[in-house]
Amino acid sequence: MSKIAYVNGQYLSHSLAKVHIEDRGYQFADGVYEVIAIHEGKFLGEKGHLNRLAHSLEALRIDWPMDKRPLSMVMREVRRRNRVRNGLLYLQITRGVAPRDHAFPNPSVSTLVITVTKRPAIDKAELLAGIEIITTPDLRWKRRDIKSISLLPNVLAKQAAIEAGAQEAWQVDEKGFVTEGSATNAWIVTKSGELITRDAGEEILNGITRLAILEAVQDQDIKLLYRPFSVTEARDAREAFISSSNSHVRAVTKIDGKAIGNGLAGELTRRLLDIYMEFMEGEGGPQQEARWN
Ligand code: PDD
Repeated sequence: MSKIAYVNGQYLSHSLAKVHIEDRGYQFADGVYEVIAIHEGKFLGEKGHLNRLAHSLEALRIDWPMDKRPLSMVMREVRRRNRVRNGLLYLQITRGVAPRDHAFPNPSVSTLVITVTKRPAIDKAELLAGIEIITTPDLRWKRRDIKSISLLPNVLAKQAAIEAGAQEAWQVDEKGFVTEGSATNAWIVTKSGELITRDAGEEILNGITRLAILEAVQDQDIKLLYRPFSVTEARDAREAFISSSNSHVRAVTKIDGKAIGNGLAGELTRRLLDIYMEFMEGEGGPQQEARWN
């Protein structure tokens, strides 16, 4: 069965799906995206992803290519045509095709591309096996709350991690505080058991997985603090983990070569993965009426 992509109103064979060379996404990275996990046939945190997409589009004054409801239907159709039960949906919207000029084209017609990829079902043991991360300066612009397709600093950070034999990089601001990973949010658990996540402002992407974890722990006996943490604090932490639509809750067992805790996934990380999964699979599901600044 050949893969099917959705491009501007058409379902096309993946190998033939194309956008024009003067698409502003290609020329200026003038666009936004979302990555949504598909778990046992269900989009995880769909509402949150569409709300964040609205925030990104509004911040950049890019028009919706279609309303939210038909967009959801197209997402389902792409999933159905590709018969994906477990995987990822990628959705990208750009300011469309126009002769190259920095100023917005008038009128502009947004480009919409949706693809899906199959992935193995969530494997808790694999997520808890733990990864190594490095820390690297955060080279990005100041509006990281927008899920922009302009990802060059993230690409460089991730590549630096791979070349160092690690799997992810935590980006660090000019004050020495961790912002987030190249494609994940960063969390630690202090020696006294406090769960720490940086507050969502313009410095980080407000992860939908992050929001789901925060919602899921509301009625748990867990001390949660919203504040930045330094690289030193992270290296000395009892536990560390990352979150994203791709990684869900994934243990971090080494930072810059130093073992975290006893070098294995921590107790709270294990518990949070269970809580998160139960919450995402549950009837209520996440509400994710987040603050998008
Ligand atoms: N990345 N921070 C950054 C910089 C990200 O790119 C991502 C997601 C996250 C986590 O967000 P969420 O929980 O909504 O997936 C945090 C996606 C998966 C990507 O670029 O592939």
